[in-house]
Amino acid sequence: MAFSKNSFGVFVLQIMVLALLSLHAEGQGLKVGFYEKSCPQAEKIVSTVMSDVMAVAPSLSGPLLRMHFHDCFIRGCDGSVLLDSPTRQSEKFSPPNLSLRGFNIIDKVKLALEKACPGVVSCADIVALVARDVTVATKGPYWEVETGRRDGKVSLFADPINRVTGLPPPFANITLLKQSFAMRGLNTKDLVVLSGGHTIGMSHCSSFENRLYNFTGKGDTDPSMDQNYIARLKLKCKPRDQTTLAELDPGSFKTFDDSYFRLVTKRRGLLESDAALLNDPETRAYLIQSISHGSTFFKDFGVSMVKMGRIGVLTGSQGEVRKVCTKTN
Ligand code: HEM
Repeated sequence: MAFSKNSFGVFVLQIMVLALLSLHAEGQGLKVGFYEKSCPQAEKIVSTVMSDVMAVAPSLSGPLLRMHFHDCFIRGCDGSVLLDSPTRQSEKFSPPNLSLRGFNIIDKVKLALEKACPGVVSCADIVALVARDVTVATKGPYWEVETGRRDGKVSLFADPINRVTGLPPPFANITLLKQSFAMRGLNTKDLVVLSGGHTIGMSHCSSFENRLYNFTGKGDTDPSMDQNYIARLKLKCKPRDQTTLAELDPGSFKTFDDSYFRLVTKRRGLLESDAALLNDPETRAYLIQSISHGSTFFKDFGVSMVKMGRIGVLTGSQGEVRKVCTKTN
């Protein structure tokens, strides 16, 4: 086949465009198997530690999945949620993160990795891999986790509670939720799919108490919530209760499945942010489709988790690989 000078130029351009597209697809320098050469056993080490942990403490699956979300939404997926501060000024001590648990598990995984490959695997990647492994441990989907994130050096108490750029609160309405996801490159489908993470785990009564006792400040209940469900929740959660936990997906809160979407459509979503998914045509249609026969939730969850895992990542020579996840080097 003869190439003219012109068609060769077009060919080179096509290759360049393809290379650029695949770079983008891999998420700004992240790729599946980033540690293939530098620490070939990395993912195996994570999954071995995690299966030991899940065998003795399965209730940590919820908090550890949630941890990746809280990490990625604040300063990108850079492990900033893990940093300690003697004066309690880091993200970890900010109100939305006070109910996170499992930081010691991330430390345990890191210790095992440091033994095998010192200074190689970032804490931000550990959080991402652990989120996948706990999903699998609760019978949820498997997805290939892109790795290559580096750890950030900054973590601020004020970031998670910033009204615009902070974590979406449990009382967020659909407009706020869509905005919060959109500003991080996640679309409406990602919003409904990732909210499906609430198929596992627990919530403090205080995160939805207003729906039971004081919805508009007049001692009323949330009219959008099933009144029988409200009556049941009131038995568990008394006013101003700061300690009691309720299952997000009662009946199957230990299993990653689509039953939470089923509850939401029956007006039994526990958080206002979940109930809000009925107030948008796209999220509502997804809920209905996912509880019918052709559910794509499991596949979609993996896709959206990969997208979430790309938010604001540090790669290449940015940031650092921490030696210990709770402090910068
Ligand atoms: C869409 C916006 C979201 C809001 C407003 C939200 C809010 C909350 C709140 C308030 C809790 C209960 C915390 C407590 O009181 O202890 C919770 C729990 C949880 N969230 Fe979300 N969340 C959102 C998205 C996500 C995403 C994207 C994921 C992961 C993919 C996720 C995973 C979880 C899990 C697994 C739990 C249970 C944690 C446990 O068992 O301790 N959430 N969420």
